[in-house]
Amino acid sequence: MIRTQEEYQQLYRKSIDLPEKFWGDVASEFHWFRKWDRVLNWENPPFAKWFEGGKTNLSYNCLDRHLAARGNKPAIIWEGEPNEDRRVLTYAELHREVCKFANVLLNQGVKAGDTIAIYMPLVPELAIAMLACARIGAIHSIIFGGFSAPALVDRINDASSKFVITADGSWRRGNLIELKKIVDDALKNTPTVKNCIVLRRAANAIDMVSGRDLWWHDVMTGASEYCSAAELDSEHPLFILYTSGSTGKPKGILHTTAGYMVGTHLTTKYVFDLREQDVYWCTADIGWVTGHSYVVYGPLSNGATTLMYEGAPNYPDVDRFWSIVERYKVNVFYTAPTAIRAFMKWGNEAPKKHDLSSLRLLGSVGEPINPEAWIWYHEIIGGGRCPIVDTWWQTETGGIMITPLPGITPTKPGSATFPFFGVDAAVVDDKGEELPLGQGGFLVIRKPWPSMLRTLWGDDARFREVYWARFADKGYYMAGDGAVRDEDGYFWILGRIDDVLNVSGHRLSTMEVESALVAHEAVVEAAVVGFNHEVKGEGVAAFVTLGPGFEKGTKMADALKKHVRDMIGAIAAPDQIHFSEALPKTRSGKIMRRLLRDVANGVESKGDMTTLEDLNVLAKLRQQEEE
Ligand code: WTA
Repeated sequence: MIRTQEEYQQLYRKSIDLPEKFWGDVASEFHWFRKWDRVLNWENPPFAKWFEGGKTNLSYNCLDRHLAARGNKPAIIWEGEPNEDRRVLTYAELHREVCKFANVLLNQGVKAGDTIAIYMPLVPELAIAMLACARIGAIHSIIFGGFSAPALVDRINDASSKFVITADGSWRRGNLIELKKIVDDALKNTPTVKNCIVLRRAANAIDMVSGRDLWWHDVMTGASEYCSAAELDSEHPLFILYTSGSTGKPKGILHTTAGYMVGTHLTTKYVFDLREQDVYWCTADIGWVTGHSYVVYGPLSNGATTLMYEGAPNYPDVDRFWSIVERYKVNVFYTAPTAIRAFMKWGNEAPKKHDLSSLRLLGSVGEPINPEAWIWYHEIIGGGRCPIVDTWWQTETGGIMITPLPGITPTKPGSATFPFFGVDAAVVDDKGEELPLGQGGFLVIRKPWPSMLRTLWGDDARFREVYWARFADKGYYMAGDGAVRDEDGYFWILGRIDDVLNVSGHRLSTMEVESALVAHEAVVEAAVVGFNHEVKGEGVAAFVTLGPGFEKGTKMADALKKHVRDMIGAIAAPDQIHFSEALPKTRSGKIMRRLLRDVANGVESKGDMTTLEDLNVLAKLRQQEEE
């Protein structure tokens, strides 16, 4: 148990100076079919191997390991969006369902190392499917339910997925989303997919393709309740999760078994200070990494009760989250700043209507939390008594990297404070030299950590290039964020340094949106930038040049927004569309995004414009804004 900031510092030092001892001790808490020979192999950077020679299973460690002591404890408490949908699965029940579904996959011919695409609503069966894959060594590739058919096609094909697990439909703000229909569209262009398993969730009418599509309830009937967990190598691939990079092609982040298990376990335990009777609620969708690590794997490996809510925070009313906190007496609550800002806008009445006194600890993730939102969260939701953990991390890092420890680290609103155990974070200049306090620079991690990504699926070269090339001589991981440490050494994250936007806590590449736009027949050229958005943090602004014969105006803007939604998903739909006859460029033809950002934010452009090819372009753009 750590109680003071001094104790944290001592243990932190130890974790950095003797990482193998530190992580070896943590790993000893788990069940191993065979103990590892070596904690860390970093002989061939950037390709790390953790717990080499060991054999284990994450599904076993999340389920079987708890059966004796916690078999009847709720593992998952689930609430569907339609109000009367409620379910509780104990550890014993979850174990049984996972074993059955693992047998279903085995019966369908799934082998260890096969990839399975999962495109589902936030229902217990999603967790069951994940844990079943992990049990037999199949690699899950979960695709957020808000992505459209073309986005699904790219991700299924890149991972060569053989199976798709989906549902007939899902609910969002009372509307039906026809997931299976989207899958049907996608599967026209995915040659590797053999079968599709379909959960009945919304009971909407769907087409079942004979020979390809199978109902979940049919295949589960009669499946055996016993399925031994595969004895997998520590470095056996666990999952692929796609995230946006600075090019149009999403990156398939690969995580492997043992290191991810150890990292998410320890961060969950310390950052959320879990106690045996706690009800823990992370509001993230499992389609994002936060859901993987802190709705499913981290809490279950700790034997905790994890709450899952299927739907929107404002359905049927803006107090939905608070009614859930009250009903289940939630103790630990973890959400995103974009949600907090939305709640602020919806007013204090909704939370005040409910008894939130069960809350003990609040968390934040996904983007910098502005001090105003931090204070509101602390006062109105936390009643002034709950510590807030502002956790910085990424899909790539697998688990939380920079965070306060509740009750130990003195917090400052807006700062993620200090690195977690084993995380050697620093702020450096472009040569990799550590900067003095107060100077902003690149956020890097100087040493490998257990839950780090292992590569990009099928693309070792891009993995090296994106994360390791910049500081290759030093062997530092470049996070892609800017940061600064204040006079007390606290880390403040300044945001992305590449062309990646953070829209409502979700990463979005400007290039992806641009490619979608230019795929529209009317568009000749497009540039996408972020602008400050009151709720989303960053909004999407698109500047487009239309081809001859196409007319600008609201109708065209709406058509383009819909087009992006169809190509990628609703999160990518531009908030602003600016029509322009040309885009401001440098002499070498590079679009000057800085200037476009100024236009999108409605501010005067300052700084160097000498490389601007045609100053008239900017003047025209501005003039048009005023029209
Ligand atoms: C941003 C989400 C400031 C950051 C877990 C990072 C944050 C990207 C924070 C990763 C935070 C995440 N403060 N910025 N507490 N947490 N970010 O992969 O820019 O969806 O690089 O992982 O979100 O987003 P991702």
